[in-house]
Amino acid sequence: MSELPISTPRFYGRDTELEELSSTLDPTKFGRKGIVLFGIGGSGKTQLALQYIKKWKQLYQAVIWINSFTSEQIIESFTEAFHLVSKLWPVKDLPNPYVGENKLNFVLARLRSTLYRNWLLVIDSADDLDSYNLVQLLPDTHHGSIIVTSARRDASDILDAHGFSGIEIDKLDDHSGRELLLGRAGISNSSHNSSHAATIVKELNGLPLALEQAGILLRRKVVNLKNFIEEYHTQSNRLMGHLPNAGEVQYDKTRSMYTILSMLYSFVKQQSPTAAAILRLLAVIGPTQVPICLLLRISQLNSRIPSADPEFQSLHDSSKVGAIFRLHLNLLEDLCLVKIRPASGKSLESALLHRADVWYRC
Ligand SMILES: Nc1ncnc2c1ncn2[C@@H]1O[C@H](COP(=O)(O)OP(=O)(O)O)[C@@H](O)[C@H]1O
Ligand SMILES: [Mg+2]
Repeated sequence: MSELPISTPRFYGRDTELEELSSTLDPTKFGRKGIVLFGIGGSGKTQLALQYIKKWKQLYQAVIWINSFTSEQIIESFTEAFHLVSKLWPVKDLPNPYVGENKLNFVLARLRSTLYRNWLLVIDSADDLDSYNLVQLLPDTHHGSIIVTSARRDASDILDAHGFSGIEIDKLDDHSGRELLLGRAGISNSSHNSSHAATIVKELNGLPLALEQAGILLRRKVVNLKNFIEEYHTQSNRLMGHLPNAGEVQYDKTRSMYTILSMLYSFVKQQSPTAAAILRLLAVIGPTQVPICLLLRISQLNSRIPSADPEFQSLHDSSKVGAIFRLHLNLLEDLCLVKIRPASGKSLESALLHRADVWYRC
């Protein structure tokens, strides 16, 4: 099994989607089974795929996870898969017909000609469809199960012609939305709290990422259940000029996501300029694993840091002392803005929306 992205500590709802995944991908069925999960960033596509794997991994002989956010990350992921397959694939199998150097072709050929046909391939974050050909990442077989996640609806249109079904991942159901919000906030689910929570869930369009981060704002007492909506509207109005225009696709959802993220970012800035600078860096790096030692080396950079940027100056200074730097990372982890691998503690992933420009503009 490939190394998977980090799962959320508690997963809520999505029962219908999980059932559809399990019946569509059922490895005992004949043919290549495929499903596209599409929906805007933060709607929970990656976590849903992870939850499916958690529940059904015993059905598969191999699980390969490809991060497809950029063409470079695709190459990186297939290279990792190549090493994994070369090391762990059972020796007693059909010969791999591909003999060239290309890692992607090697892995796809292995999945195509094998006696071990119950594999699951996940092509995650296939968002940049103009940079690569999605179909070429999929083995042309009559067996195996494939999940593709994408922020683009046309990923589903493209793969429809190749026998994939599509599920739009949208808002969480109201009950799960309230549970996610109050659970992250550490607030009891009493009927009084629950009715406030219902209003917030509705305002945030039931989007998991926005709800998770709203829960954190509540837990940190930046806002409370009573004044949340008012504070949210104030921030949303402040951002007006930077948000997508009414009528643009997914306007409401994008708007609630950015508003909550910017409330959280203001809080981070006020708590720790270093943590704010780390976030800005991660927004530029994108959704990939970032070794923490790399961030710690920032202090060794001789290039001049613009003096007008106090956040980066403080990042530069705190990266000199590992323990202090960790405290800033812990703040970001506690706010669910980064996820640190519990096993190694050596790398982190950012849970941002990866629209770097938002962080610079607000
Ligand atoms: N069903 C869920 N239960 C709890 N948290 C969730 C759920 N779905 C998403 N989240 C949270 O929302 C955030 C965004 O989810 P993610 O799967 O990364 O979205 P996407 O892949 O659509 O951009 C994550 O931090 C995750 O913890
Ligand atoms: Mg994702």
